[in-house]
Amino acid sequence: MIDTTAQRALLSRYPTGVTVVCAMTDAGPIGITVNSFASVSLDPPLVLWSIGRASDRYEAFLSAKVFTINILTAEQAALAQHYAQNAMLVDGHWTMASNGAPRISNAAGTLECRQHAVHPGGDHDILVGEVTALHEGPAAASLTFFKSGYGRIG
Ligand SMILES: Cc1cc2nc3c(=O)[nH]c(=O)nc-3n(C[C@H](O)[C@H](O)[C@H](O)COP(=O)(O)O)c2cc1C
Repeated sequence: MIDTTAQRALLSRYPTGVTVVCAMTDAGPIGITVNSFASVSLDPPLVLWSIGRASDRYEAFLSAKVFTINILTAEQAALAQHYAQNAMLVDGHWTMASNGAPRISNAAGTLECRQHAVHPGGDHDILVGEVTALHEGPAAASLTFFKSGYGRIG
C-alpha cells in the first residue's frame, strides 16, 4: 500500500515545467495550472495532461473540444499561483487563439489543441490533445516546479 503523502513527496523531487491550460466555456474563459503536461507523439502531433476528477473545473475541461496549453516563463510564477486557485481568466492575462480557445499572453510557448481522447487514470483523467497550431513566445527562462516550489531554468 503506497502512502499518498509519501508518493507526493517523492514525485516532488521530479522537476517539471509549469503550464496553464485554457478553454472557453459558456461562463467565460477558464484556466488551470498544470504540471502533468507531457509530449506523446510527433506524427501525429499529440500531447497529454491530466485533470483531477474532484476538480471544480473537471466538467468544463472534459467538455471542451479545443484548448490551449501555455508554457509559462520564469516571470509568470504569480500567474501559476493565481490559476491554481481561480478558474476564470482575468482580462489582460489572455487573448483569443485561432482555435477559439483563450491563450495566455507572453507565455514561453502555446500549443493549440483539439481534444483527441480521454483516458481514465484513477482519480485523474488523461486528456490527449492533437496539436493544431504552435506559437513561440519570448525566448525567456522557463518556470519550473520542484519540491513544492517555483524556480527557473534557462
Ligand atoms: C504547480 C502545480 C501543478 C498542478 N498540476 C495539476 C495537474 O496537472 N492536474 C490537475 O488536475 N491539477 C493540477 N494542479 C492543481 C490545480 O491547479 C488546482 O489547484 C486545482 O484544480 C484546484 O481545485 P479546483 O479546480 O477544484 O479549484 C496543479 C497545481 C500546481 C500549483
